[in-house]
Amino acid sequence: MFFGGIGTDIELYHDSKYGNGARVAEEFKRLMEGEGSKVNIHHLRESSPKGLPTADLYVFGSPTHFGKATRGMVHFVKKLELPPGTKYAVFGTFSGAAPDKKTGKMPPQEELEKWRRTIPMIDEKLKAKGMSKVAEMSVFVKPENLKGPLEEGWQKTVEVFVEAILGR
Ligand SMILES: Cc1cc2nc3c(=O)[nH]c(=O)nc-3n(C[C@H](O)[C@H](O)[C@H](O)COP(=O)(O)O)c2cc1C
Repeated sequence: MFFGGIGTDIELYHDSKYGNGARVAEEFKRLMEGEGSKVNIHHLRESSPKGLPTADLYVFGSPTHFGKATRGMVHFVKKLELPPGTKYAVFGTFSGAAPDKKTGKMPPQEELEKWRRTIPMIDEKLKAKGMSKVAEMSVFVKPENLKGPLEEGWQKTVEVFVEAILGR
C-alpha cells in the first residue's frame, strides 16, 4: 500500500537522551500504524549505520545539544549506506524559547536558529548522499527545563508531520 508515494515500511532511528524524542517516536509509530504502516523504532545505541533494513522511508530524530544534532546522530548519518533517491524524514527536539530574564523580550528568530541547527546538519549529510527529504518536524520541550517535558500540544505537531509524510 502506498500513501502519497510513501510505502508502508518505516525504520526510525533516534538518539533521545531524556526520553522526549523517544515519546515523539512512539506517537509517530502509533499514528502511522493507524494508517496501515509498520514502524520499527531504534535507538542509535543499538543500531549500526551499515546494513540497515530495507524500508520505504527512514526517519531520523535527534535532540539538540549546544545548537547541534548529537555527535552520535551526526556520525550515524555520515556513515549511512543508503542508495541515492532513498526517502527520509527528519525531526529535531529543542528547548522552547523563553523571554529574556532582564528585558522580558523574546530572542530574535536568527538568534534562536543559531542554537537549533539540528535539522540542517542532518540534511546536509543526507543530501550529500542524494537522499530525498519528504518532511521535517521541530518539537519543543518546555523552556523551564532542558530535560523536558514536551510542550503542551506536541502531539498535534506529530500529527502534522504524519500528514506531510502521507502527502495530505
Ligand atoms: C547539555 C545540553 C545542551 C542543550 N543545548 C540545547 C540547544 O543548544 N538548543 C536547544 O534548542 N536545546 C538544547 N538543549 C535541550 C535539548 O534540546 C533537550 O534536552 C532535548 O531536545 C530533549 O530530548 P530527549 O529527551 O529526547 O533527549 C540542550 C540540552 C542539554 C542537556
